[in-house]
Amino acid sequence: MARYFSAPTVDDTKALGARLAQTLRPGDLVVLSGPLGAGKTAFVQGLGAGLAVEGRIASPTFVIARVHPGRLPLVHVDAYRLGSLADADDLDLDVDAADVVTAVEWGAGLVEQLSEARLEVVIDRSAESEQRTITLLPHGGDWEARLAGLD
Ligand SMILES: Nc1ncnc2c1ncn2[C@@H]1O[C@H](COP(=O)(O)OP(=O)(O)O)[C@@H](O)[C@H]1O
Ligand SMILES: [Mg+2]
Repeated sequence: MARYFSAPTVDDTKALGARLAQTLRPGDLVVLSGPLGAGKTAFVQGLGAGLAVEGRIASPTFVIARVHPGRLPLVHVDAYRLGSLADADDLDLDVDAADVVTAVEWGAGLVEQLSEARLEVVIDRSAESEQRTITLLPHGGDWEARLAGLD
């Protein structure tokens, strides 16, 4: 079942990412979608804060993927410029996806085959305010139960 959250400010979006981070485990795949400026990178910054990773999480201009070491390492991928992604090897990252959390912006339709289980994060923005609606959609694994436990 999908869970809906309201994020009036960027800090609320980051805080939800940080809360979600407490449920994350090695091998998890989080796929983010929503228009440019929706807050996908902000949400991933919250994930990074929750995982206590090193290095600033930014919107990469040329870099498609970055590895942030941490309690649980976070691989942040911005697939905006990727037309296709045959498999994780295409990113040529020196990590095993089973050991890290992978968060992919613009990954919908590209990365589903990387993992049978994944969490989809859809961010919608309002035309009138800064408010975002963040939908968490569980796919496979125990995501359903993990989302139910997210307070
Ligand atoms: N409620 C909100 N949630 C997330 N970002 C917000 C919110 N309100 C304003 N913002 C601003 O919107 C922008 C979102 O940018 P970013 O996270 O890079 O988006 P995306 O990665 O989806 O393109 C930031 O400048 C952020 O400060
Ligand atoms: Mg972004």
